[in-house]
Amino acid sequence: MTTRRDFLTSTAAAAAALSVLPGGAQGETPVASPALPVAPGAELAPRPVVISSGNGIRGVKVAYDQIVRGTDTLDAIIAGINIQELDPDDQSVGLGGFPNADGVVQLDASCMHGPTKRAGAVGCLEDIATPSLVAKAVMDYTDHIMLVGAGAKRFALDMGFRSQPLLTEKTRQDWLRWKARLNPNDFWLDHDDDVKIKFSTGTINMNAVNAKGEISSCTSTSGMAWKIPGRLGDSPIVGAGQYCDNEVGAAGSTGRGEANIKVCGGFLTVEHMRQGMAPAQAVLKTLERLVAMTESRLLRPDGRPNFDIQFYAVAKDGRYAAGSLYEGADFAVCDEKGPRLETCVFLYPRGR
Ligand code: GLY
Repeated sequence: MTTRRDFLTSTAAAAAALSVLPGGAQGETPVASPALPVAPGAELAPRPVVISSGNGIRGVKVAYDQIVRGTDTLDAIIAGINIQELDPDDQSVGLGGFPNADGVVQLDASCMHGPTKRAGAVGCLEDIATPSLVAKAVMDYTDHIMLVGAGAKRFALDMGFRSQPLLTEKTRQDWLRWKARLNPNDFWLDHDDDVKIKFSTGTINMNAVNAKGEISSCTSTSGMAWKIPGRLGDSPIVGAGQYCDNEVGAAGSTGRGEANIKVCGGFLTVEHMRQGMAPAQAVLKTLERLVAMTESRLLRPDGRPNFDIQFYAVAKDGRYAAGSLYEGADFAVCDEKGPRLETCVFLYPRGR
């Protein structure tokens, strides 16, 4: 009798030998989760796994441990995401996240719960450190899916969330330096230190499946640093920043949200898996579509995008992968082998 482990080993070897994945030169592409063709009639039992953007390396373990103890997959991944949201040193989400051009931290998040087919989202939320939990509260307690701005904050306060300043001293200093350097002819003195002012689009996306094949996804962010006040990225948009279909799998994204919104990348990646693609193929196919939809002002002389973006995907049976436009990104995984960083598949090798 062929065990599941035998099946995975043999199909992984077959997929590797075939080099079926697009993107990168053949034999160079690091494949996080090999393309596993599902043999006709083969039944792959779901296996619990949590995947996340690399900054979720602590959170995937917390989420995985909760899932194997029986916690709902969405509650578990939000517990994992809360670690980054409440960490003042993570300048991509929650407390300490980069502010907008006015120095105000505005947070976005969305989530989906596969078993009940529900979703929730918040955008431009101020003074509440855990937008992932507020998004879930929108899902749990209202007939709406998305609340934004002052209404989202009022809702959060009504639900008992604590209002607190989110701009840390370090992040305020970074914002002041960015502001001072905006215009060499204004009355702000530029610092002559060599502190690099980041222009990041940091975010955390986390997706999980449990042993029953129940799937959830969640994404949380402070958005693009120094954004125009009121800007929403992809993270709060169900179908872009994350998407989950309990029959198929879940997917989410970090990186330039404006690029993702145009391809509805979370939804598109899940649809690719629905059509039979393995997670690695699905994320690469989404990246290809995103490149095709990139306007010319954002293309380098070699025709490639001048930004990066990542997609993360988990299938109902526990296969997973993450893909990045450019080589070098990694992502966090936790399963029965414990938490670790793995390498994203990619479209373009670095430096070429
Ligand atoms: N992907 C996060 C953002 O663009 O806001």
